[in-house]
Amino acid sequence: MAQVTVPRWAPAAGRPFSRRAWPIEVFAVDDNSVQLAWRGSPRAGLRIEVGGGVAHPVASPQAELVVSVYRWRGAPPASGGDHYEQPGSGPGTGVERPEVRGKGGPGADVRARRDLAGLLHLSGTRVLDPAWPSGPGSVVIEGLSPATTYDIVASADGLPKFLAGRVTTVQPPEGRLLAQLAAVTDIHIGEKHFGIWGRIWDQAALRPGSSPYPVRALTAALAEAAAWGADLIVAKGDLTRIATSGELSTAGRILASSPVPVEAVLGNHDNALNVDMRAVLQASGIRLSWGPRALDLPGLRVVLVNTVHADPRYHSGHLPPAAGLEVAELAGEAPTPAMVVLHHPPEMHRYPTVYPPGIPFAESTALLEALAARKPDSLLSCGHRHRNRRYSHGPLVIAETGSTKDYPGVWAGYKVYETGLLQVVRRTSRPDVINWTETTRRAMNGQWGRWSPGRLGDRCFGVTWQ
Ligand SMILES: [Fe+2]
Ligand SMILES: [Fe+2]
Repeated sequence: MAQVTVPRWAPAAGRPFSRRAWPIEVFAVDDNSVQLAWRGSPRAGLRIEVGGGVAHPVASPQAELVVSVYRWRGAPPASGGDHYEQPGSGPGTGVERPEVRGKGGPGADVRARRDLAGLLHLSGTRVLDPAWPSGPGSVVIEGLSPATTYDIVASADGLPKFLAGRVTTVQPPEGRLLAQLAAVTDIHIGEKHFGIWGRIWDQAALRPGSSPYPVRALTAALAEAAAWGADLIVAKGDLTRIATSGELSTAGRILASSPVPVEAVLGNHDNALNVDMRAVLQASGIRLSWGPRALDLPGLRVVLVNTVHADPRYHSGHLPPAAGLEVAELAGEAPTPAMVVLHHPPEMHRYPTVYPPGIPFAESTALLEALAARKPDSLLSCGHRHRNRRYSHGPLVIAETGSTKDYPGVWAGYKVYETGLLQVVRRTSRPDVINWTETTRRAMNGQWGRWSPGRLGDRCFGVTWQ
């Protein structure tokens, strides 16, 4: 059974949850670096020290939540609603004026109007975290030693040095570093708003010259993964919203513009309209295949697996047992360990316990049993659920990684060693991207921000093959 090691971090007492402090959190750790992230910060003079490394991040503008709410004429007004005042909305009346502005707390600005269909449109903006004068940000501090505990010491103008927490780096597997690759997933080019009812909008995209948030998030994630040192980037599906040819060609163009080679598999969102997605993506130079295919890096065989259901009405995965066997054979043929890349995670229980459903249990069992027998030194890297999780099946390690374009907005890096590998999931830190992904934290009444990140050990861990 593969041996898994995880990093650790502990916030100093009272942090990062104090509303008055600079709320620094450790998001990613590997053997020699730590990524720190915050939802708000002091305005100037930011300074963070970890070991001998010092960073002076520049404070970014506050993030602004842009929300719209639709409700039918004459219906009782919605209650609560993200702290927005609902102007003129007495019980059962609806709003009579064509446009009303009101205040909904600090930094909020709310408008209400009817559209031509008679729908009442309530929309508003609100500063996401008004307790801090500046917005979300992130910094990576490198040059740390493996398996070592460090104090995270921060300060800013008007904020004396304080201990934000302590972090312990990962012990890497023994042997030389042979290769680095990265993964992006759930890109959803074409998506225009986020949340269960699509209520969270991207204010930046309304500015002239700005790209939609899925485009910004993917472009920045590819650039950051390449700068990190990836030799190859795999895109793990859900490249588009509904797979129009325009969305597919945009996805293909951006993936093809990556400074390092990109390989892709499809997700359930890439098969909705019977568009020939392979032809559109191949026109951009992105290869796709229906059957499993393998490529070899130094020290690792990567097996790319298509798990999309042939019927576009199904969002769950599909991997016939014969295809699962083929995956295991491909992995087993290599003299090296294997990483199996697929969109849908395997279902680990007879009945799905997590939404959205992955590969059905019987098909998952066939894949996992065959893989455990033919190539026990395997990691499965999946997407689809827009969250970060790690679990195991016998000797196999299974990792789900989060979407590029919604909270926390990540890409995954893999360092391949002679005796194992390290996974590190980092937030995409470009200011116009982290500003957007922070706002999506508020989806599902804030539950999205608790659900999607997973624990540090879900995102960052070392695997030593046995
Ligand atoms: Fe997705
Ligand atoms: Fe999906």
